[in-house]
Parts: sequence; C-alpha cells; structure tokens
Amino acid sequence: MSATHQLRCTTCGARIAGDAVRSDFRCPDCNGLYEVIYPWSQGWSAEKTASAEVRLPNPGGMRHLWQERKTSTMPVDQSGVWRFRELLPIVRDVERVVTLREGNTPLYEMPRSAELAGVDWLLAKHQGMNPTGSFKDTGMTAALSVAVERGFQWVACASTGNTSAAMAAYAARAGLRCIVFIPEGKIAWGKLSQSMDYGALTVQLKTDFDGCLKLLTKLVQQFPIYLLNSVNPYRLEGQKTPAMEIVEQMEWQVPEHLVVPGGNLGNSSALGKGFLEMKHLGLIQRVPKISVIQAQGANPLYRWFGDENREMKPVKAETRATAIRIGNPASWRKASRVIEETGGWCEQVNEQEIALAKAEIGAEGVGCEPASAVTLAGLKKLVAAGRVTREERVVLVLTGHTLKDPQYTIDYHKGELLTAAEIASETEAERASHAALRKPPLVLEADEAVVLRALEERMAKANAAETQATPGTSK
Ligand code: F0G
Repeated sequence: MSATHQLRCTTCGARIAGDAVRSDFRCPDCNGLYEVIYPWSQGWSAEKTASAEVRLPNPGGMRHLWQERKTSTMPVDQSGVWRFRELLPIVRDVERVVTLREGNTPLYEMPRSAELAGVDWLLAKHQGMNPTGSFKDTGMTAALSVAVERGFQWVACASTGNTSAAMAAYAARAGLRCIVFIPEGKIAWGKLSQSMDYGALTVQLKTDFDGCLKLLTKLVQQFPIYLLNSVNPYRLEGQKTPAMEIVEQMEWQVPEHLVVPGGNLGNSSALGKGFLEMKHLGLIQRVPKISVIQAQGANPLYRWFGDENREMKPVKAETRATAIRIGNPASWRKASRVIEETGGWCEQVNEQEIALAKAEIGAEGVGCEPASAVTLAGLKKLVAAGRVTREERVVLVLTGHTLKDPQYTIDYHKGELLTAAEIASETEAERASHAALRKPPLVLEADEAVVLRALEERMAKANAAETQATPGTSK
C-alpha cells in the first residue's frame, strides 16, 4: 500500500490503496464513499502512527512553514492548497501539481450583516475569490493532479456549474480533455460560459444534477475517464484547506461557528475533516460548530435530521440557487457526521430569505452568488432559535462569486425575481428591507437637466430614508 495515504470507506471502514479504487469511487462491499487517511490520521494502526508523528513537523513548525511559503515565488508554494501540503500528501511529486494559485482567499469582516443577523462579530471566508470564482478550485487542483499522476487523458464531472467551470480550467492547464454534464436550462450563464471558454466538451442533459451524476457514474465504469465529482475523495483534501486558512487568518484562534451551504454536501464534509484533523494534530485545541444550510426546495439533509427513522429520502429539487439544486446528495453521510461531531445544525431557508440575504451581502460591497447567501439567511434563523449566541464568532463560507449568476441579481433589482405568491408571504419588515435594497437601473434621456433632476430626486429620497433609519444622527 502507498506509504503516504490510504482510502478508508466511511460506511464499513474497509481500507484500500489509493490506486486500487474503483472508477466510481464507491466501496465494492457496501457502496460507501471513501475518505483519505494518512499515517497520522485517527484510526491508522498505532505503531505506524507513532513513527509517522516523528516524521511530521511539530505544529509550531508547520504554522511557520506555511506562513513562510506565502513569500516564495514557486507556484506550489503560492497555492493556498499546496502551501499546506504536509496535510495532504496525495501526490508523489508535489512540484508537478496543476495549480492556478487557488486559495489564499480573503476573510472579510461583515459588520452590517452581523447586525442584521444579531451577532457581534461576523466574518465571511470568500471562496468566490478563487481563480474560476468558486471554492471548487481548491478541490480541483488536488484531484486533477492525482488524475495526471495516474496517467488519465480524460476527466469528467456532473455539475450545477461551478465544478464544471473549475474542472475545465484545470484540465486545460494540464492539457487533459474534459467532458461536463450539466442539467439543461438550470445553470447560471457565467458558469456555462466558463466551461466553453476553457474548452470543455459541454453536454447539456435533459435531466437534473442528480440525473447527470447517475449517468456519469455508469459511463466512467465503461471508459477510462477520471471522475472529478466530490465522490472523489481527493477533491475533499483540497477543499479542507480553507479550514487551515481561516484559523491562520484569525491568528490561530478558532471561530465558534462555521456556516456552510449544502448541496451535494462535499464541502461541509471537507471543511469538517480539515478542522478535525487540525485538532487531532494539536494545531488547534477545539473545532467550530459546523452548520449546513440548504434551500427549502432542495433540503434532503434538513429532512433527514427531522426524520425520527433517520432515513435519507431524496427529493425532487427546486430552487433559484441553482448551484445547490440537488435532491440526492452523495456525501450526506459524511456531512451529517461532521454536523454531529462538531455540534452544529442543519437549517433550511426559502427563496425570499435567500434573495434578501444575497442583496444584503451585496450591499456590504462583498457580493456572492445565490447559493452562498443561504449562509446569512440561515444564520439569522440559527440566532433567532438560540442556536448561535450573540458573542459567538461566526464565519460564513461564501462559496461563489456574484458574477457567476448576474441574471439572478438583475432580476432581483428589477423586482422580477420573486413571484406574487412569494412576495405575498413576506413580512412587512422583509418587504421594507427589499424596498431599501433594490436598486433598479434608471433609464434616462442623455440631457443634463433631466439627469440632474433625477439625481436630485434620488439623493433626497436616500437622505430621507437614512434620517428615518437613524433618527437623531447626522452622517
Ligand atoms: N455553493 C456553490 C456556489 C456551489 O457551486 C455548490 C455546489 C455548493 C455551494 C454546495 O457545495 O455540493 O459541496 O455541498 N456546486 C456543485 C457544482 C454541485 O456542480 O458546481 P456541496
């Protein structure tokens, strides 16, 4: 077996060598998903753990090394994934990894969103600031580098758009051919255009994401195509590194709570693995509670938590947050364990709540795609239910850039996003918030007097609204 890592089935515990895995990344005995384990991981045999720990740099040494690499000019050091390579030794030759300098994303303070959610201190880890505009890049550099090392010529994924954009870019960098399967008519234009731009063979199937993944899973068993969905455990090794970045950016303090959107549930699983491994290695003393937020129309994990028989029942998914329009999440078992082990929650939010939260994040000058906004919408509910307290330091994981889905944003601001029934079910306060946030474009004659009059009107309105919102203050 490989000296650096093994794959362990997360359902039955069976272990195999990395290169012995089946093309669909499922355990032949129980159909479970694998996780990557290392000689220092919990559960690796005792005598091996002892010798491996000797080889590992001590926590202080690793922190220093990771920081120092930021100033290096080597691509592999500049990557916010491979900078942490001691925690993901999955390739033999780390200098040959395929990288677009992913990771190293900002951790923004969100004071206005904090106030709206009812917490004192809120941060946003913006994974939309990755090279292709989503968190998928951190996973793609890892798994695609493994594909290259194993000699694959073709790679493929099923996607709601972001995985395909990331895969297409990394495959192009590596000179591999790639095929993406996406649900027809249900992906945002920004993402579809990226796959085409990076030269992928794009197949739009007349089904949903779940149907695409099912079909692709059969195809990879018949052709030598490397599957790059998050059932591939190497994806999650890259996607765990934002956990390291977050604590590094907080000067090795750990937030009390991390809020993550849930679709196929790979990302929440990966971040959980990252935090739990750091604790196991003594890099941190505790882990944050990890809560997963789903769209109400695509909420199988939320339902699973509420089901006393604990049965996973796939749903027919429907939401405008198309990135998480997933009814049969592959990694639900891993994600549910992360929530339980860390003491987090699973919450759901409706379309109005998502739209409002997205506009609020945008109004803070940060912006994100709709699926990422479920985090703020979900946090409001967790606070209201007493599951997050005011003093807790919360980090929202914003998974995608606002430019991924510009149509959603334009429809929102023009007042064309929500249906009459959705608007009718809003509270007065929600309606007032929408009214204050909506900024539809003005269409005017190119005439100085006309423009001046319109601007004066707008300024007077804005001033009046501000005075009303903060009586007794002048800004
Ligand atoms: N946020 C965004 C922007 C996404 O693109 C996705 C998933 C998620 C959240 C959910 O993450 O699936 O790991 O729970 N997008 C996948 C794709 C499914 O194909 O791009 P998850």
